[in-house]
Amino acid sequence: MITIALSKGRIYKETLPLLAAADIVPTDDPDKSRKLILDTNHDDVKLVIIRATDVPTYVQFGAADLGVAGKDVLLEHGGEGLYEPLDLKIAKCKLMTAGLVDAKPRVSGRLRVATKFTNVAKRYFESRGEQIELIKLYGSMELGPIVGLSDLIVDVVDTGNTLKANGLKPVDHIADISSRLVVNKASMKMKHEKISAIIDQISAAVS
Ligand code: ATP
Ligand code: PRP
Repeated sequence: MITIALSKGRIYKETLPLLAAADIVPTDDPDKSRKLILDTNHDDVKLVIIRATDVPTYVQFGAADLGVAGKDVLLEHGGEGLYEPLDLKIAKCKLMTAGLVDAKPRVSGRLRVATKFTNVAKRYFESRGEQIELIKLYGSMELGPIVGLSDLIVDVVDTGNTLKANGLKPVDHIADISSRLVVNKASMKMKHEKISAIIDQISAAVS
């Protein structure tokens, strides 16, 4: 059995053609079904549909052999227990810091940074020698500076429309992001033939 972890939405949509190149075609549609495990055209290949941030965890612990996760999510997770053999070049965006267009400089205390990417933010500001106060959020980070919760946010930016619509502007670039194929380290050994065939077919489709 080969289990592949995917999240609904853009990653699922953009991964489908790559899986098709490896002759893996789901027989259920996650938008129409409430099932969390989807069958495919192969009895021994299943897809598990989970939150984007949970993909590395499922693959790390071997609950899925393979997965597709954004590099942002992988940087935050740390990548322990995972191989990252392929850049799928899908769901491209940038991890950035952002703040209010008309931000006033903080007069006292540490810079406050709100984000769901707390590990990334901690490492980034430490590398610049900046002391910050981190505020963990789970979504809608753009609201942080508007309501005075934080000076800056760390979030993914693509077109910049979400920042603009909320009176924010990008400040610093942290990393270029795209989605990666990740593989459980033990699965890579135990199921080597099947998994390397899938990697090769997907790799050919990417390039
Ligand atoms: P969760 O549901 O766990 O909060 P999420 O809402 O971030 O996760 P998606 O919006 O499906 O999940 O994003 C999945 C991945 O796609 C992200 O990890 C990131 O790498 C990338 N991504 C996020 N937003 C954009 C965007 N606007 N344009 C392009 N790629 C994006
Ligand atoms: C993501 C991200 C930003 C937005 C950036 O949200 O959290 O809010 O995209 O894209 P932009 O620069 O093109 O505006 P998404 O659309 O995935 O919604 P969600 O994360 O809130 O589900």
